[in-house]
Amino acid sequence: MDKLQLERAAALTAARYDHPPLAFVHSFGCQQNVSDGEHLKGLLAEMGFGFTDSAENADLVLFNTCAVRESAEDRVFGNVGALKNIKRERPELMIALCGCMMQRPEVAERIKKSFPYVDIVFGTGAMHRLPEFLIRRLEGGKRVFWDQPAKNVIEGIPAVREEGVKAWLPIMQGCNNFCTYCIVPYVRGREVSRAPERIEQEARELVGRGYREITLLGQNVNSYGRGLAKPYNFPELLRRLDRVEGEYRLRFMTSHPKDCTRELIDVIAQSRHVCRHIHLPVQSGSDRVVQAMNRHYHIDGYLELIAYAREKMPDVTFSSDIIVGFPGETREEFLETLALIKKVRYNALFTFIYSRRAGTPAAEMPDPVPAGEKSEWFRELLEVQQGICCELNEAMVGSVQRVLFDSPGKSGEGFLAGRTEGNVIVEAPGDRSLIGRFLPVKITRAMNWAMVGTILESR
Ligand code: SAH
Ligand code: SF4
Ligand code: F3S
Repeated sequence: MDKLQLERAAALTAARYDHPPLAFVHSFGCQQNVSDGEHLKGLLAEMGFGFTDSAENADLVLFNTCAVRESAEDRVFGNVGALKNIKRERPELMIALCGCMMQRPEVAERIKKSFPYVDIVFGTGAMHRLPEFLIRRLEGGKRVFWDQPAKNVIEGIPAVREEGVKAWLPIMQGCNNFCTYCIVPYVRGREVSRAPERIEQEARELVGRGYREITLLGQNVNSYGRGLAKPYNFPELLRRLDRVEGEYRLRFMTSHPKDCTRELIDVIAQSRHVCRHIHLPVQSGSDRVVQAMNRHYHIDGYLELIAYAREKMPDVTFSSDIIVGFPGETREEFLETLALIKKVRYNALFTFIYSRRAGTPAAEMPDPVPAGEKSEWFRELLEVQQGICCELNEAMVGSVQRVLFDSPGKSGEGFLAGRTEGNVIVEAPGDRSLIGRFLPVKITRAMNWAMVGTILESR
């Protein structure tokens, strides 16, 4: 980071406003984006900004956008549209857009033409340049549009993390997989891993500062370390981080089934800190569809891996992502997906209707199934999964779970909310001072979205 640049940006901002400047930073999309948003806040804090939760009070609005589905993009355009009136009333408001969507030339073009009140636009590869962009604009320059792709991981950007109990820790950026439906490799660039020493150092700092749960982030953590000068692999990294002393949990996402090895499962089984929960997105239960998606695994192999993990860790749980209505998917193939989720019994499922992304191979494939029918399949999928979740939740009633409490609860006055190792939400009455503690909780009742229980001991 360029100290002089930060100081210059701070001075220019201070001169523009007659009060300490406030920024409203909002990240759409995945955890990787949320983590980027925390680093953007880190940069803004260095430039003298405080933070607010609403655009109405802000001197700078920064939207960190997501391009994964059309609905995600629509949401961003809606939010940017809503800023028009605020900017009319307060022309000194700065508006900046960044993230995955802004890496798409056609989006940048549309912003240029149709949203003249947006000041700064930059893609995922230029996060660290935010101070430079602000300086250019504040010095009276033209609107800034920057679309150069990322080349390497920029280290040393501080983070202002959203909360004090759980932390995101990116271990790599980009993606090399080119699943045929997916825009991410185009907007995030090629895969680059951070050095294991840096990751370990950051994990140690986080644990030292009292964080109790660290989630390692990458689009496919299983290919971590491949491009490093001294190649390293993900199981090795997990083993290394697990040696860090302290009371904390490790999670990771996302684990691509094609690269998920038995070695990784053995490491989880032997670890002290890694949660026995694996997010292992299968996308579809049909071999033909999985192949058309360019995912490089077979359903049999996937099920064998799950069986192996359950043999090593009888209490392990799984979650997954599913796409309904991939181009050319038939009713029979969709039924294979239903059969798979009944077999695996995921404790959580993230379900999406296929969204066409221009520039990806799937966008060119024939897609004859009408939207209405896809919605019907989607509804069926949700219903089946809801049934499974209900059964799994009912089975938890009466058990004792180790819960990490992270926030005030929603189910009543004086309740706390937390998560089990399997990432299931649990609420229990308790004092706020217990936030950040791992506590045994006796589960008494299952609700739709969470379990309710009683804390057994808190001393
Ligand atoms: N790298 C992660 C996923 C990143 S995107 C992985 O491989 O698992 C998160 C999820 O969004 C994907 O798993 C997929 O289920 C969904 N998704 C991606 N592109 C999509 C599209 N074009 N339409 C619908 N869902 C999509
Ligand atoms: Fe997209 Fe596939 Fe990469 Fe995940 S692994 S980000 S789904 S291309
Ligand atoms: Fe969206 Fe970019 Fe994540 S497209 S899902 S924010 S990597």
